[in-house]
Amino acid sequence: MYGRGIYALRDVSLVVEKGEFVFLTGPSGAGKSTLLRLLLRQELATEGSVKVAGRDLAKLTPSQAQSYRRAVGFVFQDFKLIPSKTVLDNVGIVPRVLGATSVQQQRRTFQVLKWLGLQHRMNAYPLELSGGEQQRVAIARALVNEPALILADEPTGNLDPDLSLEIMNLFRDINSRGTTVLVATHNRELMRHVGRRSITLDHGHLVETA
Ligand SMILES: Nc1ncnc2c1ncn2[C@@H]1O[C@H](COP(=O)(O)OP(=O)(O)OP(=O)(O)O)[C@@H](O)[C@H]1O
Ligand SMILES: [Mg+2]
Repeated sequence: MYGRGIYALRDVSLVVEKGEFVFLTGPSGAGKSTLLRLLLRQELATEGSVKVAGRDLAKLTPSQAQSYRRAVGFVFQDFKLIPSKTVLDNVGIVPRVLGATSVQQQRRTFQVLKWLGLQHRMNAYPLELSGGEQQRVAIARALVNEPALILADEPTGNLDPDLSLEIMNLFRDINSRGTTVLVATHNRELMRHVGRRSITLDHGHLVETA
């Protein structure tokens, strides 16, 4: 519930297994972003509980919540790149925070930038990039640390159809190596292409899981 009596989600009960790839769909305002924000612990549920890997997110201390958020790979609609840092540093910053050595960090950062077709833009600053390139930098940042959980909110919203498919294939590859992936999208074609479980929300209710 947001503020006074606005329920963004109501009676939603669902389980996502470790290692699953799940789509979250439904019309605008259905509650998709809210559900992802709850899972990232950007918001706390006013009722009910949200558990990830057996831990109730409401019970984390502020510092546990901070390290939890760092360990999740997330790509949100308002992806915030740091304008004063290059692509390389925006992506490389994640492993540095998590304490990877610089050689490992560099290798992994280059690999992910290559996957996303950004190797030639490594030294550019976010404001010099197109919307789609910025979105790919945000995706690279989410993947670089090989998180156990990826939460993505319309991750291909600014990308052309070919690139969107490529990004989904990338998520699928990462998922096949054990990462749990949740993707909110309106794009039915992408969902068909990937062919995984989809959870449909409408006006905050769970209407279908197929
Ligand atoms: N910070 C907020 N404060 C108050 N109400 C909010 C807030 N964020 C979302 N809502 C409301 O909660 C409901 C669900 O919003 P949410 O952003 O989760 O939908 P969504 O499914 O992600 O939609 P979209 O497809 O447009 O991104 C909407 O009615 C929205 O207006
Ligand atoms: Mg949304």
